[in-house]
Amino acid sequence: MTNLQLQSLQLERSIELPSQQLSAISARGIEMVFRSGNDYCRVLKGIDLEVQQGDIQFLMGPSGSGKTTLLSILAGILTPTAGSVRILGRDITQMSRRQLAEFRRSQIGFVFQGFNLFPTLSVLENVEVALNLNGLKGEASRKQALTLLAQVDLIDKAQLMPCHLSGGQKQRVAIARALAGNPCILMADEPTASLDSHNGHAAIALLHNLAKERGCTVLVVTHDPRITEFADRIVHLEDGEIGRMEYRAVDLEALERQASWST
Ligand SMILES: Nc1ncnc2c1ncn2[C@@H]1O[C@H](COP(=O)(O)OP(=O)(O)O)[C@@H](O)[C@H]1O
Ligand SMILES: [Mg+2]
Repeated sequence: MTNLQLQSLQLERSIELPSQQLSAISARGIEMVFRSGNDYCRVLKGIDLEVQQGDIQFLMGPSGSGKTTLLSILAGILTPTAGSVRILGRDITQMSRRQLAEFRRSQIGFVFQGFNLFPTLSVLENVEVALNLNGLKGEASRKQALTLLAQVDLIDKAQLMPCHLSGGQKQRVAIARALAGNPCILMADEPTASLDSHNGHAAIALLHNLAKERGCTVLVVTHDPRITEFADRIVHLEDGEIGRMEYRAVDLEALERQASWST
């Protein structure tokens, strides 16, 4: 459901929705200090960030500006030195390791930079492994893996090994795998970095569709200027601090023109 739909539902039915209901990701005062030997490196310097439900938001910035560190904190992969992160209203920085692992599995899909596929497993098995972690086994996991591969238009590649796929196809497997837990939130670290312009657009169009048709909240880290037209909002990270913010109207025509995959 989009923000607009949610807001009109709220008006229509006079429902008092808590304001946090519109905010899928909310970070306050995020600091990250890395220590190496006697040196301290302050990578994030008090970040406040909001991502609204159903939005596709980009986090942009030059290499080394702290994008991956921030995304990892928002996904609960890294613990910040200070600050809090609320996902769907729940403070993940207060969760035990076990609670966090369970919460991440069921709510957050993560597409790692560089695909991170298991090279000795087939495409189908790569997706099945993620489903197994979510408790699906045997025939049920095989069926669901095929459904996910169909959603990214890769059903005919199910039996191949990752080394026989193009970059665009590998990225689609990585996205299918991130959808294994049917997450409300999808995060992707530089999803177009190793793709040509055509496949880069197709990857971002797929993420855009997940936001707009399935109501997923999508947060994309990128420094790829070729894809910015597909973001609802762009937040710039500069030297560990939030700089400029841009709001965009998504160019749906461009999206339709460029949304087909070339293999
Ligand atoms: N585990 C770590 N230990 C020490 N320094 C780190 C670690 N991870 C990242 N950094 C440093 O933090 C800075 C930001 O890194 P990163 O978040 O990967 O930036 P980006 O994704 O924007 O390129 C870099 O200077 C990097 O060297
Ligand atoms: Mg990075």
